[in-house]
Amino acid sequence: MDRKNNPRNRYSTLDFKWKDEYNTGIAEIDYQHQYFLSSIKRITTVMAEKNEHTYCQRLFMELVYYTKFHFYSEENIMMHLNYAGLKEHQELHRDLIDILTNKINSIDDNIEEYHLFVQFLLKWFVHHSMEEDKKIAPLKEVTGVKPI
Ligand SMILES: [Fe+2]
Repeated sequence: MDRKNNPRNRYSTLDFKWKDEYNTGIAEIDYQHQYFLSSIKRITTVMAEKNEHTYCQRLFMELVYYTKFHFYSEENIMMHLNYAGLKEHQELHRDLIDILTNKINSIDDNIEEYHLFVQFLLKWFVHHSMEEDKKIAPLKEVTGVKPI
């Protein structure tokens, strides 16, 4: 397989760099989002360099636990800010946890499958943080709440 067609090299086309537009304006959430992004990046690095399926599965499991923690934490901030859209937002979170959990249980050592899933996670993250999480930022000003 030549370099261009090798799925391992396609990871380099994914952009994991933190961008200003990802900022929600709430430091605690932004910090956790940065960690989320770097956790996905780490999985792709391991896949590209070592291809250790068991280790990758464990890293994915770590990502599931971290995502659960992050969602819980973010929802608590939303609750603290009296965000009216909390229930709907919790459903979006629950949907991703379901997808993640199902995927972890079914993923095999197919690198293409990992690649597609990482792509999906990256897209989900960009859309969710920019379109959904940002909705609570104005509340911080209204209530005068300054998480961290
Ligand atoms: Fe969220």
